[in-house]
Amino acid sequence: MGADPAWLTGLRRWLDAALLHEARRLAAGYRHTPDELHRHFVSDAQVEALLRERNPDAPTETALGLLRERAADLATGVTGGPSPLAELAGAYRLSAAETLVLATVLAPETETSYRRVFGYLNDDLARPLPTIDVLLRLVPGAEVLLDRTSALFASRLLETFPAPGAAHWRAAGLTVAEPVRAHLLSPHAGRDLVGNGVGGTPAEVPGVAPVVEAVRAGVVRAVVVRGATAGESLPAARCFARALGRELVSWHTAGSGSFSDAVTTARLEHAVLYVDVVDARACDESELRWALSQPVVVAVGARAASGTVLPDGVAHVELSVPWSPRSPGTAGRGVLSSVRRPPSVQLVEATYAWDDLVLPEASMRRLRELSAAVEHRDRVLDDWAFRRLSGGSGALRALLTGVSGTGKTMSAAVVAAELGLPLWKVDLSAVVSKYIGETEKNLEEVFAAVEGSRAILMFDEADALFGKRSEISDAHDRYANIEVAYLLQRIESFDGVLLLATNLPGNLDTAFARRIQFEIEFPMPDETARLRLWHRALPPEAPRTADIDVERLAAAFALSGGEIRTVALGAAFLAAYEDRPIAMDHLLRAVARQRRRAGKLPTLKEFGDSLSLVHGEAS
Ligand SMILES: Nc1ncnc2c1ncn2[C@@H]1O[C@H](COP(=O)(O)OP(=O)(O)OP(=O)(O)O)[C@@H](O)[C@H]1O
Ligand SMILES: [Mg+2]
Repeated sequence: MGADPAWLTGLRRWLDAALLHEARRLAAGYRHTPDELHRHFVSDAQVEALLRERNPDAPTETALGLLRERAADLATGVTGGPSPLAELAGAYRLSAAETLVLATVLAPETETSYRRVFGYLNDDLARPLPTIDVLLRLVPGAEVLLDRTSALFASRLLETFPAPGAAHWRAAGLTVAEPVRAHLLSPHAGRDLVGNGVGGTPAEVPGVAPVVEAVRAGVVRAVVVRGATAGESLPAARCFARALGRELVSWHTAGSGSFSDAVTTARLEHAVLYVDVVDARACDESELRWALSQPVVVAVGARAASGTVLPDGVAHVELSVPWSPRSPGTAGRGVLSSVRRPPSVQLVEATYAWDDLVLPEASMRRLRELSAAVEHRDRVLDDWAFRRLSGGSGALRALLTGVSGTGKTMSAAVVAAELGLPLWKVDLSAVVSKYIGETEKNLEEVFAAVEGSRAILMFDEADALFGKRSEISDAHDRYANIEVAYLLQRIESFDGVLLLATNLPGNLDTAFARRIQFEIEFPMPDETARLRLWHRALPPEAPRTADIDVERLAAAFALSGGEIRTVALGAAFLAAYEDRPIAMDHLLRAVARQRRRAGKLPTLKEFGDSLSLVHGEAS
């Protein structure tokens, strides 16, 4: 290996001498007594031969000390110029002794013959890795460095193999973490571990500059970008990386390396690590915390670390807009940009107020309670610290039940408008995918975006997603592969207002039903309610004849609010087409059309003597 860099050669000279010294000490003391029955066998002579190649003269104690000093200087870059090892030592602030320990553990990776030597020193060729015990003998003063809580292990540069029990700590074999090996022995190849650098021009994200300054000044060690969606936190992460003059690398659950390895690689490569919200959720909370203890700029989408108290030195950039314009305590929050709405979500326009709603008293009361709960959510949960009691979750979940056209969406819009929050309605057909895992990914995007935007999230046909598994599996086969566990966990951790609307309340899976705090019923309107609906359905501005008898319409036709609205609109178009004011016959004909559309024939009971009028009415 003539092409070996100086640091490696210098290290080996010391290491060989140190190993030889130790091997001889063992042989002289008869502590090493390999016998014929031993399956694997290396003789003293073989070890001598392996180790004396670089040091033909048997090292004296003094010579050994000098070699060690020279090796340490090379390893830490004091002499010999910059090297990957010296860079690493600098980045992790390793002492000379720590660097030597690391280099020694790396040795079997650089030359396989070291495996035999370590096997020999361990008196077991099946254990060819340097053990803590051996290292303590090779590197003076290594005791504290090899404590299980020491920096080399805490920063995950070294790994023990196999994971030892407390009693066998000294016997544990050591390896360097894979990204460390890759970085030292094939620089820049390690980047593959976390995927390619995410390229592109960063959009200027306002508010990033002060955080960049803080990172540069060393005040801030790690940064969590809590965005809403990948579409939002990614540009911010790019912006950070560019402003810091660093590469951006990303980590995916689907990729080959572990999250821990990705953090190490980012740190070694001096890159910014970006973790998408979906992937961040897949990481352990403790892993995230560990990552944030490292001086790595980690950008995670959404509230991946929500609930986590960020350690000192970790900046937090919130990309979200405040919860509610009225809620206190949100004024200081850095709003970097507003949240992009995923394409599978529709914004429901707020065109109604409380007065437009025609509902039974009980339903109205429940709606107002829901609205009040949303409004005071931050105060009760955060200022009054009730969040802890609710398991950390700030979710408000309501179930709106009633047949089509009874005002579920309308009521949601009224609540949202009153609170000044947007109402986002999920388009199930755009979210649900037949591909495994894809639906969860789409839903995750929606949930994360909503958490960032503080919108109220509504699912229509909630039973399709949240229904009893057995009952939907045949009817809605394409929903069958959705992870119930994912949905349960997600609506549990969802930090917002979730409205589930359904026509079939009994169909809701009990696991979901138990998590509902508000159940609001939307019954078919009775005659009195229908009369009010008819009055509201015909605007005062619309020209109308005196023969319109809304009492009769309310009494005769058991229509929903939605149907009444459709009928009134249909009648208005008929009248406009005939260039007449809206008259009773327009309304009756529109009802008949509505009936036919619903698959019902106009009956004498409903239409009375007007039946002939609507007889030929097409749907
Ligand atoms: N309770 C009601 N009070 C006043 N207007 C109503 C009421 N119910 C329905 N309407 C009218 O009917 C329209 C449609 O109602 P809405 O979309 O809210 O029904 P829905 O229960 O969401 O139906 P679906 O289950 O089909 O989604 C409303 O925009 C409103 O004009
Ligand atoms: Mg609706």
